[in-house]
Amino acid sequence: MEDHRQVVRRQFRKQAHRFEGKGLTLSSQEYLQWMADNLDLQPHFDVLDVAAGTGLLSRAMAPHVARVVALDLTPEMLLQGRSQAKHDGLTNIVFVQGLAEDLPYPNDSFNRVVSRFSIHHFEDPQIQVKEMVRVCRPGGKVAIIDLVSPDDGTLAATYNRLERLRDPSHTRALLAGELRSVMQTAGLEIVHTVSREVEVNVTRWMDLTAPGPKMWRTILEELTEELKGGRITGMRPFMRDNELMFIQTWVIVVGVKR
Ligand SMILES: C[S@@+](CC[C@H](N)C(=O)[O-])C[C@H]1O[C@@H](n2cnc3c(N)ncnc32)[C@H](O)[C@@H]1O
Repeated sequence: MEDHRQVVRRQFRKQAHRFEGKGLTLSSQEYLQWMADNLDLQPHFDVLDVAAGTGLLSRAMAPHVARVVALDLTPEMLLQGRSQAKHDGLTNIVFVQGLAEDLPYPNDSFNRVVSRFSIHHFEDPQIQVKEMVRVCRPGGKVAIIDLVSPDDGTLAATYNRLERLRDPSHTRALLAGELRSVMQTAGLEIVHTVSREVEVNVTRWMDLTAPGPKMWRTILEELTEELKGGRITGMRPFMRDNELMFIQTWVIVVGVKR
């Protein structure tokens, strides 16, 4: 069986050059600002961004802290990030290739450890979250930002199946409560949770991962079926200006390492 990391690498090697494309919710400055505002950053902080990709969040945080380490498994994502940081004149970010499950840092190294949109790519996120807590300083905070599944179990299964058809490196978006439990089990005291509903353009969302035509068709058929009153997918599809859209729920959960 293919190692899940290989699936991730292949997927993000493919996405790297279009990851920051116009009109994607991922690169929305409004959402990035909202995230940075919820991380309680201070100018002297050392921050680790785990599974940082091209460092979109790293770059949003960099002006507010002393240093950001952007760590990711996929070199092509890091390459894009490095060149964008240079273009933006940001000199306090370092891009490092590494694994979220085996962070190359001693215990208690960072004031903040953050990770955005990574949990739903891990097979057992407890492992990576525990590792994030290990490298966070006592009194420091770990913040996880991710999409979450609908609370209803059947809808959550359909929702995740469609996400996996679009991107085979997607494992499962947790329920908001599950995410909090994973963080608590890893030793964090949850101090802050916020969420927002994010409208996603289906064509742009699929263009990023470029699934095969069969996957495209299945996803479109199921969403269109729901619009016509058919089976509910958990994606909450709707039409706006003749474009098919759906709604994701994004959460930010912040915990303190005591
Ligand atoms: C959806 S992207 C998010 C990138 C970035 N955090 C952001 O929000 O813009 C997921 C990233 O997780 C990385 N990733 C997935 N599994 C990983 C692992 N086990 N260790 C390190 N990085 C990983 C992928 O290479 C990819 O860049």
